[in-house]
This record gives sequence, structure tokens and C-alpha cells, in this order.
Amino acid sequence: MASLIDSHCHLDLPHFDEDRDAVVARAAAAGVEAIVTIGIDLDHSRAAIELAERYSQVYATVGVHPNDCGDFGPHTPDALRKLAQHPKVVAIGEIGLDYYWDRTPPSRQREVFRQQLDLAAELGLPVVIHDREAHEDVRAQLRAWVKKGSLPGSPLSKRAFVGVLHSFSGDLAMAEEAYEWGFILGLAGPVTFKNARALHALVPYLRPDRLMIETDAPYLSPHPYRGQRNEPARVGLVAEKLAELWRCSPEDVARQTTATARRFYGLDAPTSSETRSRRQSV
Ligand code: NI
Repeated sequence: MASLIDSHCHLDLPHFDEDRDAVVARAAAAGVEAIVTIGIDLDHSRAAIELAERYSQVYATVGVHPNDCGDFGPHTPDALRKLAQHPKVVAIGEIGLDYYWDRTPPSRQREVFRQQLDLAAELGLPVVIHDREAHEDVRAQLRAWVKKGSLPGSPLSKRAFVGVLHSFSGDLAMAEEAYEWGFILGLAGPVTFKNARALHALVPYLRPDRLMIETDAPYLSPHPYRGQRNEPARVGLVAEKLAELWRCSPEDVARQTTATARRFYGLDAPTSSETRSRRQSV
């Protein structure tokens, strides 16, 4: 298969403490040319940056996840702003709303979400959105941000894509509204699950040029590894399922999603000598 990008995982989590080098090597051997590891709070954002410094093909995002926003204080935006200056920080995320786990009151989640959307607009970095059982409020908040919030006229508004709805679980109307706003979608392991009928029915109507693939590792392991620890090497299983649903080749899915992920995160394509030496090193 052509080169792949795992556009969303959590490589810094303790699930990988025993064998992180091997996990990264297996991804490279499986043709994964870049991995984006996603921050969920300040400490994890710092850890994500450290991994981006350790591995040339790893990039980081910084942000505070709605389930972890209890500690979000008046100085958190400034701390994120400083972390975001690192050259391998490529987005703000993951941020959003999660009404499944009620660890933080929804009104507080919405305030923390709004502040981080404002920060992304100011910094010109795209946003990685987490939305679990909060579709209507996520839509309302993004709509307000895109139309009359801090996005219009900001450095971010000049980019081709302003955000991604990661591990998308909405319907076609939500996808189409997201495209209008300059958003793209991310799909992960759940699309490979045998009982994911709604997703299987939706995917043929989604725009292949507005989609990235991801693992969300260590979570959401694709079929036939459902329930096991996930890792970036398995992102190809998502590409294969999309190829089946779109009736095209996995190579086509790989080429298109890799190009979209490079454009979304602003990653330079590796030079051919880099690709060669990376292949030799695994
Ligand atoms: Ni995630």
C-alpha cells in the first residue's frame, strides 16, 4: 500500500511505556510515514512534544480534552500558547464536548472549548475536535465560531482546512455542514466493526478528499483486533475498509488521505532519501 498517516493517536499514554520504540518501528514497517500524537491536557501535551522530538516522523498537538478540563485555569491558555510555539506542534486538540462521561459540567466544557477555539484562531493552527454524544452543542459552538467568533479574519481562516471532527459519528447533514465551514472528517477503527451499520451506510456519501484516517490508539482497535490495545501500524485496516465501501483500491485511499493529512497539518512530504533511510532503519 502507498504511504499512510495515522492522523490521531495517543502515543504518550502509559499503554505504550513498555514497547514504544517497537510500536513506532512497526508503524514504519507498515508504511505509516507520519504519526500525529494528540494532547489531552497540559502534561500530556508536553509528553506529546517530547515524543515528537524523539521520533522524526512523530508530530504533536496541544490542548485540553473535555474530560480533562477540571484543571483548566486562567493561566492554561498561556501555557498552551507557549507549547504551541514548538515547530512540531501542528494543531490545537483534542478539544470539544463529551456528554457521555460527565466528569465536567457541560457549561464548563463549553467555556473551555470556546477559549481553545479562540486560541487556535489566534495562533493559526487547525483544531482537532472530540464530540461524544454532544453533536448539537458541538455544531452550535463551531457554527458560532466560524460565522462570527474569533475565526473570521484570523490567521487560521487563511488555511484550506480549519479543523477535523475526529472519529466522526455524526450524520450526512453534519458532515456537509462541516465541509462548508472548512472542516474535514477523521475515521478510526469503528468503521471496521461488523455492526457499524450507520457508518457503513454513511461512508459512500462522504467526500474522499475531505477525510483523514486515524487509529486513536491505544483505543478503538479495528476489526479483527477489537478490544485489544490499538497501535498506529493498524491504520491500514481503516484504509482497507474505506476502499471496500468506496469500491476503490486501498492504494487510492492511502494516497488521498495521506495528501489530505499533510495539507491539514502542514507537514512537508518526506524527501526520497529520508523515505529510503527510514525504510532501511526498520
Ligand atoms: Ni483521541
